[in-house]
Amino acid sequence: MTTKEVERVQVISERKNGSPPECFIHNESDRPNLDPPLGTIPIIDFSYVESKDLDQRCLEDSKLRSASSNWGIFQVVGHGIPTSYMEEIRNIQRLFFKQSIEEKQKYAIDWTIPEYTEGYGSDVVLSDDQILNWNDKLHLNVYPEKVRNMDRWPRKPETFKEKILEFDEKVMIIMDEIFKSLARSLGLDEFYFINNGTKGRTMWRFNYYPSCSKPDLVLGLKIHTDATFLTILLLDDKVPGLQVFNDEFGWVKVPIRPDALVVVLGDEIQIMSNGVYKSVIHKVVTNSEQERISLAIFVLSEPEKEIGPIDELIEEGEPRLYRKIMAKRFLEHAFSNYSKGKPHIDDFMKV
Ligand code: OGA
Ligand code: NI
Repeated sequence: MTTKEVERVQVISERKNGSPPECFIHNESDRPNLDPPLGTIPIIDFSYVESKDLDQRCLEDSKLRSASSNWGIFQVVGHGIPTSYMEEIRNIQRLFFKQSIEEKQKYAIDWTIPEYTEGYGSDVVLSDDQILNWNDKLHLNVYPEKVRNMDRWPRKPETFKEKILEFDEKVMIIMDEIFKSLARSLGLDEFYFINNGTKGRTMWRFNYYPSCSKPDLVLGLKIHTDATFLTILLLDDKVPGLQVFNDEFGWVKVPIRPDALVVVLGDEIQIMSNGVYKSVIHKVVTNSEQERISLAIFVLSEPEKEIGPIDELIEEGEPRLYRKIMAKRFLEHAFSNYSKGKPHIDDFMKV
């Protein structure tokens, strides 16, 4: 497949009278409502980990079960990471994107290497009719250590590497607690997902959404589900933009809550739970005044692991909704569907 790369969206947005070029403009039916109602995204309090309060844990597990089946997204508080520290991480990300394009291009994604999508860049163009995202990004493989490719890690700002590795340690601790709670809430052994390769790797995507003079025509990220087990988001604490779809409420805005980490459930957990837990449909809108950042930590199964509905979760006589597939094969499928604007879990995944 030949791939073509476009200019950085930041460069396009900085041009005088910078209207978005044709390739970013969505058909009328896909254009966003910039101001839908605020969603009541469930909040799960993990302070029971510190207090060892088992009644509290039981209560939060049941909240998590309802959040995972009705929403596919929840906000995590009481995770033990200070808000001031989360602010430092946002600031280091802002500092990276504030640098000149030349500085950032030192870490440019090398599209000539197949499957090598680490580094700084924008959407890759896979087809002529693809509508592009109003988004630049820095993509890094972080876990396990052997997949780290340090020459793609920014050397400026100087504290970037050290801060991100430190944040990673903190995130991995709370991630284990989220994995345990998800397993318990499904009636599985709490180490089920930790021990079987589901916590296989993490890919960090630092998102940068420049302001756009025509926010009603473009999307920062078009409608998608994440092809992950789950994704942990550190959202901008000043500029909103993330919207999620809920069966009951329709499209809603995700509120800004600076002390929360937002967890998005992805396709893998929907497949493994045989549809009991949902991967949430979401998109990102832009605005004409302010740029926005977010950090998405994608957590995926080990590439060679087979994913499919978990035997213990299938009640007798109940149909399996999805077939088994190797994790990396599913990811390829999801990636190809995404570029065409199609859902990842489609007939190809049905039994
Ligand atoms: C993503 C994503 C949400 C955001 O990177 O997959 O959905 O608010 N990001 O940037
Ligand atoms: Ni997403």
